[in-house]
Amino acid sequence: MDCSSNNLFLIAEHCLFNGDIAQKLSLTHSAKQLLDQQRLSFESLTPVQSIANTCFPEKPQLLLPRAMPRRSMDSDEGKAAFFHALAHIEFVAIYLAWDIIYRFRGLPVAFYSDWLTIADEEAQHFALICQCLQQYGLTYGDLPAHSGLWWHAQDTADNLLARLAIVPRCMEARGLDVTPAMIEKFQQLGDRHSVDILTRIFEDEIGHVERGSYWFKYWAAQQGLDSEQAYKTLLLSFYKGKPKGPFNREVRIIAGFSTNELDWLEERLL
Ligand SMILES: [Fe+2]
Ligand SMILES: [Fe+2]
Repeated sequence: MDCSSNNLFLIAEHCLFNGDIAQKLSLTHSAKQLLDQQRLSFESLTPVQSIANTCFPEKPQLLLPRAMPRRSMDSDEGKAAFFHALAHIEFVAIYLAWDIIYRFRGLPVAFYSDWLTIADEEAQHFALICQCLQQYGLTYGDLPAHSGLWWHAQDTADNLLARLAIVPRCMEARGLDVTPAMIEKFQQLGDRHSVDILTRIFEDEIGHVERGSYWFKYWAAQQGLDSEQAYKTLLLSFYKGKPKGPFNREVRIIAGFSTNELDWLEERLL
């Protein structure tokens, strides 16, 4: 690709089908700047490639979730592993935001603007977590990472409503449940730097889930579906296993969940 392109889908293609990390971060940031300067073009110029062609860097080595070593957060080694796992989540989140842009065409410009803003925030989160990782002498790729995060993208590659149900409204929403306890843990350890970074990420992630809920409802309505019913049906068919709790109900409501959806999820808890 001509890296000077101002076409959203060509930039998305470059970010998804090249593994280079530094280039991905800088292209994501320049695409957001083009958006802010109203210089971004939204014309669909090339056909959508298969999700199977998505290209990840050579490192980290990707392992099945059950093969990932478990470490306690009480050691430096455990904290380093925690930040490495988080860096991987943020890194895959950059791909997830680009992929929802790239794969689903013909949507309103506001849809693409929202997900590009999210891609740029994920790139910032990744860079911030890499700073935390540096405190432990590590860089992203030094440890193995969980291969499962991308499976949800592959499963929902041809179904926008399922993608929105599973990625922002299930995976990212789970982050809203568990992050406050992590922040608390680093507060107890007196690690102000990590507290600040995790708090910043938590606040942004509420917005990501909220945008997920907004576009989920929009797309359900476009198809004449009841959004609560559609959410339940899609979760049952696309989410393997039961949801994990407890839920951060207060924050999930801010992020666009209905009490009805939360009640239904709670009835199905592990
Ligand atoms: Fe993030
Ligand atoms: Fe996110």
